[in-house]
Amino acid sequence: MSGELKNLTFFVRTFGCQMNESDSERIAGILCRAGAKKAARPEDSDLIIVNTCAVRKKAEEKLFSYLGRLAQIKKKKLVQVGVVGCVAQLRGLELLEKKFGVDFVLGPDNYGELPDILRTSPADKHISTAWSAEWHDTPLDLALHESTVSAYVPVMEGCNNFCSYCIVPFTRGREKYRPLSSIVEEVEDLGRKGFKEIQLLGQNVNSYRDPRSGGSFPDLLRATCRVEPIEWIRFLTSHPKNFTLEIAETMAAEKKICRQLHLPLQSGATSVLERMRRSYTQEDYLEKIAFLRRLMPDISLSTDIIVGFPGESEKDFEESLAVLREVRFTNIFSFRYSPRPLTRASEFKDDVPGEEKSRRLAEVQALQKQIQLENHGRKVGSVIKVLCLGPAKKTPHLYSGRDEGYEVVNFQSADDCSGSFVNVRVTGFGPYSLYGERIPVS
Ligand code: 5AD
Ligand code: SF4
Repeated sequence: MSGELKNLTFFVRTFGCQMNESDSERIAGILCRAGAKKAARPEDSDLIIVNTCAVRKKAEEKLFSYLGRLAQIKKKKLVQVGVVGCVAQLRGLELLEKKFGVDFVLGPDNYGELPDILRTSPADKHISTAWSAEWHDTPLDLALHESTVSAYVPVMEGCNNFCSYCIVPFTRGREKYRPLSSIVEEVEDLGRKGFKEIQLLGQNVNSYRDPRSGGSFPDLLRATCRVEPIEWIRFLTSHPKNFTLEIAETMAAEKKICRQLHLPLQSGATSVLERMRRSYTQEDYLEKIAFLRRLMPDISLSTDIIVGFPGESEKDFEESLAVLREVRFTNIFSFRYSPRPLTRASEFKDDVPGEEKSRRLAEVQALQKQIQLENHGRKVGSVIKVLCLGPAKKTPHLYSGRDEGYEVVNFQSADDCSGSFVNVRVTGFGPYSLYGERIPVS
């Protein structure tokens, strides 16, 4: 297939999570392998792929407004539009209606068909959304990574948890796991190419099992830690139910695993967690946090919070605020609940008024902003190790990177240190990032 799309230029627009970003890198890799070239803007391409997210209603709406923008481009030039990812899986046939201007639709399990589709006539509108029960392995060197320093490595896909609000089990299907040997080979390849950090990805990453040996997630962590040039290893997303004490102990024992964890709480109220079908209570969650902090006192924790879930009373909401005050997360992602098709919770009465959801969201965010300012204030004067990812996007005279806790650090440096670990003295901060100056490594 190599070379057959050599006259084609393409552009990929990605909505949603890290898994989608990783999929887009693989889609770009598939197209480049077939000879196509990546364009910087949709206006300059013959093919536009929109990788979509269905997790919240707002994310889905973004797709439709983007398709409206693409319709303007389509009026001026011949361009093919493909919609892929979670909305494609869910609303594929509807997306092929003429008014949306979409030429083909591929679900998250069907990207491999891209070159074949592009070989057929655009007039034959194509849709593929069948799931397979097994992991589709891809060639080692496939992904066209956005960064040359930090790489996403997908290790599992899908979710068997069926939290009552969540559409993911319906868009990504049931869990399937990538063979451990294939993951390690890819990590070794990334190490040879000079990558310093990897992020192991999966919707429910801690339930990983090697389909061949039955090896567990801690086995996977240990195997990737043995890959020499890789220095920092992260993973997401963890479900508190599947995040075991053994995983915590592995993190503590392995120096390369960053002391950082994203552990979605969703709600601080046990009664809401029960209706969300999360299988843990507020106490269980706090116990896990306490255990983690006993093992790794400096661990950096982040979380997801949903406000306004059906039946969430003011008192329940206060419980979420109380957990935020107690844990003092490094960062949170907070959302207004929106009912999603096919989910259990979509049958519940969406009884928290929109205005009240917005008020609660604003309150969560204001509290968290205050916590982050206080956390950051305490870091001024300290020296932190930062992996420099390159020049800062908005302030190109600065460099930008992340510390082990996954905090954004923008800093001054006399020379280009992209791709290196550097020491930065913290001199200032905002709620969402730290500022500093690079100091010599002693
Ligand atoms: N409404 C609001 N937020 C949601 N999330 C998932 N489903 C919904 C929904 N229906 C949030 C959860 C999840 C994150 C990726 O998106 O917090 O962890
Ligand atoms: Fe959705 Fe729950 Fe699975 Fe996460 S664990 S993807 S919230 S169903």
